[in-house]
Amino acid sequence: MSFSNLEIRTKCNNGATDSTEGGANMFDLSKFSLKGKTAIVTGGSRGIGKAIAQGFAKAGAKVAVTSRKLNDLEANAAEIKAFGGEAFPVQAHLGKMEEINRMVKTVMDEFGRIDILVNNAGTGPASTTVLNSDERLWETIINLNLKGVYFTSQAVAKVMKTQGGGKIVNIASVDGIKPEPGVSIYDVSKAGVRMITSAFALELAPFNIRVNTIAPGPISTKLLDSHWAHLPAEEFKKGKQELAEKTPMRRIGEPDEIVGAAIYLASDASSFTTGAEIVVDGGTLLYVPLEAPVPPEEKQ
Ligand SMILES: NC(=O)c1ccc[n+]([C@@H]2O[C@H](COP(=O)([O-])OP(=O)(O)OC[C@H]3O[C@@H](n4cnc5c(N)ncnc54)[C@H](OP(=O)(O)O)[C@@H]3O)[C@@H](O)[C@H]2O)c1
Repeated sequence: MSFSNLEIRTKCNNGATDSTEGGANMFDLSKFSLKGKTAIVTGGSRGIGKAIAQGFAKAGAKVAVTSRKLNDLEANAAEIKAFGGEAFPVQAHLGKMEEINRMVKTVMDEFGRIDILVNNAGTGPASTTVLNSDERLWETIINLNLKGVYFTSQAVAKVMKTQGGGKIVNIASVDGIKPEPGVSIYDVSKAGVRMITSAFALELAPFNIRVNTIAPGPISTKLLDSHWAHLPAEEFKKGKQELAEKTPMRRIGEPDEIVGAAIYLASDASSFTTGAEIVVDGGTLLYVPLEAPVPPEEKQ
């Protein structure tokens, strides 16, 4: 096939058609729509998951939001319903197999199908060195961030296979690409999430199930704030400001700034994209510190 003979036809505002060499079909912006789709957003009660759930609802999807605290889920569902969207709160601890399976069954009972899964729920408590990390911390982080993502994907992919397709979006982190001192188990879990994307994308492609990753940099949420939450207010502010200054864009991102990438990967706009990763980090990965990192225990 020769690309030189193909045409991109772009519809102008006045409805006229403009022809340019280079592509095959007119791109239709409605491919970004999630109208008629059903979605699960894990960790949909606050932070990045709340923003994605609201963005999906605005794009037309019915959204099931799930996490451990029902009150927070109900609050987000109420906000979504207030702007005319559809939301369904489901309480579940996603580090536990029986709760993952119950959550998926509850959503199927309510929606009858699952077109989109966003594996966003994640945790990264306690800054500690590789020499001091213990089994309890490992299990808390790995059970949710890695086992939870793997088996929620598996349970939902079985549904999607029967339906004839679907989209899975995994929220990893720039920490899964370049480690951050003091959060090694979190780093390991997020590197694993990136491999879950690759492994699932490869095996599920024949079933029309696409699997992709978003790797956020620093985003202003409770999880990020937990780095300094134990410090007095002034120190908290200073720590967050220092992080912002190390970011090439000189600021920390907002949860809303992850939503565009999530809608792209969850919609038909990304129809030929699987096993890919979108980094949304204000340039964080471009930054090479000139000083050696200091492990948390050695800080003054
Ligand atoms: N913020 C950042 O700078 C940043 C950067 C890179 C990647 N990320 C990733 O983005 C994702 C969202 O993080 P966030 O910053 O929005 O964090 P967050 O504000 O702390 O939100 C975490 C969400 O996960 C839920 N959750 C926690 N433990 C759970 C469990 N065991 N079972 C089910 N749900 C659980 C929480 O609700 P409950 O407490 O009610 O369960 C909450 O809805 C995470 O995967 C995180 O690793 C964040």
